[in-house]
Amino acid sequence: MMDVDLRIYEHPILRFIRGRAVSFTFNNRQIRGYEGESIAAALLAAGIKVFRRSMKLGRARGFYCGIGKCSSCLMRVDGIPNVRTCIEPVRGGMIVETQTWEPDLPTTMEFDVKREKVDVDIAVVGGGPAGLEAAITASKLGATVAVIDENYKAGGQLIKQTHKFFGSVEAYAGVRGINIANKLLSELRKTKAHWILGSSVFAHYSGSSESLLAYGGGRYYRIRAKKVVYSTGAMENMLLFPNNDLPGVYGAGGVQTIMNVYGVKPGNEALIVGAGNVGLILGYQLLQAGVRVRAVVEIMPKIGGYKVHANKLMRQGVPILTSHTIKEVQGKEWVESATIVEVDKNFNMIEGSEERLNVDLVCIAVGLSPSIELPAQAGAKTSYIPELGGYVPLHNKFLKTSLENVYVAGDASGIEEATTAMFEGRIAGAETSASLGYNVQRAETIVENTMRQLEMFRKSPFSSRVVKGKMKVFSMMGDLT
Ligand SMILES: Cc1cc2nc3c(=O)[nH]c(=O)nc-3n(C[C@H](O)[C@H](O)[C@H](O)COP(=O)(O)OP(=O)(O)OC[C@H]3O[C@@H](n4cnc5c(N)ncnc54)[C@H](O)[C@@H]3O)c2cc1C
Ligand code: FES
Repeated sequence: MMDVDLRIYEHPILRFIRGRAVSFTFNNRQIRGYEGESIAAALLAAGIKVFRRSMKLGRARGFYCGIGKCSSCLMRVDGIPNVRTCIEPVRGGMIVETQTWEPDLPTTMEFDVKREKVDVDIAVVGGGPAGLEAAITASKLGATVAVIDENYKAGGQLIKQTHKFFGSVEAYAGVRGINIANKLLSELRKTKAHWILGSSVFAHYSGSSESLLAYGGGRYYRIRAKKVVYSTGAMENMLLFPNNDLPGVYGAGGVQTIMNVYGVKPGNEALIVGAGNVGLILGYQLLQAGVRVRAVVEIMPKIGGYKVHANKLMRQGVPILTSHTIKEVQGKEWVESATIVEVDKNFNMIEGSEERLNVDLVCIAVGLSPSIELPAQAGAKTSYIPELGGYVPLHNKFLKTSLENVYVAGDASGIEEATTAMFEGRIAGAETSASLGYNVQRAETIVENTMRQLEMFRKSPFSSRVVKGKMKVFSMMGDLT
């Protein structure tokens, strides 16, 4: 019997069209979900926040990133342990169980796993704005393409952005993120590109061609490609503070996924940590979903995001406290309150300035790190470039890494934004196609024009840090070749 339903039924911008109602069990309790929802979304909608226990101390663990990148939501599903429930769709009759510290390996080794072989010119790993542009461009130029995404909804970060994008007119400035994703997806649907959704690429082997292994939905894929474009995006950074592991401390992007993709209210009273664009935008998205935002704290002495986003929040009465941070979170099984504190110019906490807020949701919006595991595993040279958010695969301006057949694009090549991700994806798509002899002249024109648009876009003072990072990468790449 379900007694709680935190689904959002009215929203000023979004309409949530849910699939067929299904029923599944969680620790022997009947839960209702809707086809198209993730297990995590259905559980959160039913008011369940504790998904598993930590290995050593048995502490409560819940949702965090919402995009399959952190392991916080691992559960046992139909006897299989370590399922990332934030990206696993609900199915009627499925059995979902909390994992404990005890080994709970499958009781049978016999699973009905199907195998599929895919042979293409270009494999694009990640179907966000960078990957979709790469796939559209390469397909239109005549290459055979497979797009693999571990999410069963393609579009990457765009599918949860209800706000109108800033950026370049050539790259949909003024259009809501969700609508940009829909436009790209309908473009891609017009091509012959092969889609593999809900499947994670987990290995890359190089030989006479590049071989990728992927798994999802009971199916193993062996994808053989001549070129690989990694457009795997980024993962959210965490902050160190006491009780940061309690359910209710969620990544800002994770909160957006729950709220804007699945239409589930993530909490009632929120604190946001970080006043960059992500934190500010999340602030008014929470208000749209009916969540009260108690404050945004920012450790720096000034707001990092655009003024227009900050003003929008402040007009709604949300205080943005600069030179403030989170000190700790209180709660037994989940967040019950949080303490914020002022910091001095050396970022030391000022004793006596603490304030305790009664919140059940703490959203961490303190930056992203590029997802580079797969190109790194393939052997691409990487380097720590703080201006680009962390370790990135070294690449030249045509997005080619130190490996002949491996390219990167978008946040995986350095944290920037959707506009530049699309430009980079287009360049990588055209470059890989041209290198295989497809429509070379047309491809070169696309590269030239897109490169010009990218350079123009990066002339903005907001891009100066990224440009500095990219210059470092290009020059290190020059040293390598
Ligand atoms: C709150 C917020 C607001 C933003 N606002 C703006 C804005 O106004 N304007 C703007 O230009 N940008 C904005 N951005 C930034 C923009 O959304 C990102 O920079 C952009 O989405 C990056 O695109 P990408 O294709 O590189 O990565 P993503 O969009 O993150 O896509 C990566 C994809 O790769 C898939 N993937 C990862 N690993 C694997 C694997 N192993 N196997 C298979 N698939 C995998 C993921 O599932 C995902 O779909 C915003 C971001 C946030 C969080
Ligand atoms: S992997 Fe599911 S919440 Fe991060």
